[in-house]
Amino acid sequence: MTQTKQAAIRKIGVLTSGGDCAGLNAVIRAVTDAAVGRGWEVVGLLNGHLGLLSTPPDILPLTADTVRGDLLRAGGTILGTTTKGDPFKFPAEDGTTSDRSEHVRAAIRELGLEALVVIGGDGSMRLFDRLLEGVGIPWVGVPKTIDNDVPGTEFAVGFFTAVEIVGQSLDRLASHAASHRRIMVLEVMGRDSGFIALFGGIAGGADVILMPEFPYDLEAVAAHVRKITHDWPSPVLVVVAEGVEKPAGERRKGNVGLAIANSLQNLTGFDARCTVLGHVQRGGTPAMFDRLLGSAMGARAVSVLASGQNRRMVAWQGGLVTDVPLADVVTGPRFVAKDSQLIRTARRLGTYVGEF
Ligand code: F6P
Repeated sequence: MTQTKQAAIRKIGVLTSGGDCAGLNAVIRAVTDAAVGRGWEVVGLLNGHLGLLSTPPDILPLTADTVRGDLLRAGGTILGTTTKGDPFKFPAEDGTTSDRSEHVRAAIRELGLEALVVIGGDGSMRLFDRLLEGVGIPWVGVPKTIDNDVPGTEFAVGFFTAVEIVGQSLDRLASHAASHRRIMVLEVMGRDSGFIALFGGIAGGADVILMPEFPYDLEAVAAHVRKITHDWPSPVLVVVAEGVEKPAGERRKGNVGLAIANSLQNLTGFDARCTVLGHVQRGGTPAMFDRLLGSAMGARAVSVLASGQNRRMVAWQGGLVTDVPLADVVTGPRFVAKDSQLIRTARRLGTYVGEF
């Protein structure tokens, strides 16, 4: 645990970084309320690191009044965010890049920030760990991402809203699939990790769940479909994470979900369609668990800073909010484990989850 020798904190910054998701505002509200409760001043930094590259920096002062009311319920992030403009290789219009990291560091000093809360995924944790090197202020991360692939925490803010949306979409596709006796493929987000597909697929009663972590065999999927339908056109629900490899030999452009739907139609003779959920999974009112997680994690982040610690990430482990060393988090994304309990659950439910 990195303990910093520092004077009492009086002013902190908070920002959201990376892709948006539901529940970010709940974290911003909790950080603000907990910090203001300690007598600290809170500065919202706009658009991730991009606001710190502006001169003067783009900020939004945060008080108990600005975060009261409906902020907890609101989707997106009032601070704005970005997945673009790597400050170490900042792109110019002429196609060249330059290192603007010193500009970011200077802006943090200029604002007089004595600590920082970064709400982001594992990529943002890595970025700020590098950016804050040498600035000499403590910082703490709050994990967010619908993909739920941040190491060190069982759940990240935003994940359960995405799972809810996947489950509700499967409910709707189920009645459609029944009316038309179709295979309905639902493509969900998850570039590297299949947590959304696995959790949403089980909750929504999918017959097949394909995740980027595990190989699958389309002939085996088709055989599974024939078995559960007794080889007679019947409703079938297939969930495919966007990061799953396309079927072998499939070279056409387009989504993997569509490629799988087309191949299954050919292999089974059943009508098949694909729905791509996309950014719908990241928007709108956060699910209650994301509000709870965001509130508990935001408040914990402030306690971590108040206790003089540095380079920690708050985390959800075994039903409790805790915090872990940043060094354990910046190692890269987290994946669904072959032997995880929910993989066993899916298999016991008769769901096809791959060849492993
Ligand atoms: O990282 C979360 C995620 O939702 C991925 O699953 C997805 O590939 C990506 O964001 C898309 O982000 P954007 O369209 O904002 O680049």
